[in-house]
Amino acid sequence: MSTAKASSESRVTLHQLMLPEHANAHGNVHGGVILRMVDEAGAIAAMRHARLPCVTISIDSMTFRQPVHLGELLICTATVTWVGRSSIEVHCEVHAENPITGVISHTNSAFLVFVALGPDGHPTAAPQLALLDEGERRRFEEGKLRQAHRIGARSENAR
Ligand SMILES: CC(C)(COP(=O)(O)OP(=O)(O)OC[C@H]1O[C@@H](n2cnc3c(N)ncnc32)[C@H](O)[C@@H]1OP(=O)(O)O)[C@@H](O)C(=O)NCCC(=O)NCCS
Repeated sequence: MSTAKASSESRVTLHQLMLPEHANAHGNVHGGVILRMVDEAGAIAAMRHARLPCVTISIDSMTFRQPVHLGELLICTATVTWVGRSSIEVHCEVHAENPITGVISHTNSAFLVFVALGPDGHPTAAPQLALLDEGERRRFEEGKLRQAHRIGARSENAR
């Protein structure tokens, strides 16, 4: 088993200027554009952590608190919060920045789970997460509970 890795080794921030091609019918940014960026940022953080291909297995609920406007910079930061064996939970936080005024607003956040795949395409062990402070230990314990809930929900749905 490889050595534990800190979340700072895999954390990633993506930036993208929102242009007319990102609009919905109301002239704001389409929710799917935001979801795609969240999924991409999460996948990058998971792959940087595992240094293996990772696929999305679950996206927890995501609330759109306020519209993102065209001309704003969409900023998504993804941080690994919990690791099981092959499963990696990532927290993604989305902000919108008006590049003229500098005003930044928090628009969304979500937890996603990715699964690390071996060369045979099956789930394989990822490095453990090094927990460097009290906040990281607390977030890890919360992640463990969230994952137990997801797995429980999966068994309920299979009945
Ligand atoms: C991801 C995939 C390879 C997992 O295969 P699987 O045979 O179901 O794997 P397992 O049952 O062994 O589960 C693998 C891990 O996922 C976790 N998992 C399973 N269901 C889950 C769920 N609903 N939410 C979160 N984690 C889940 C398991 O607990 C296990 O974690 P662990 O290794 O840390 O204990 C398979 O489901 C798949 O290919 N899904 C499609 C992925 C995809 O196309 N994503 C979108 C594009 S990237």
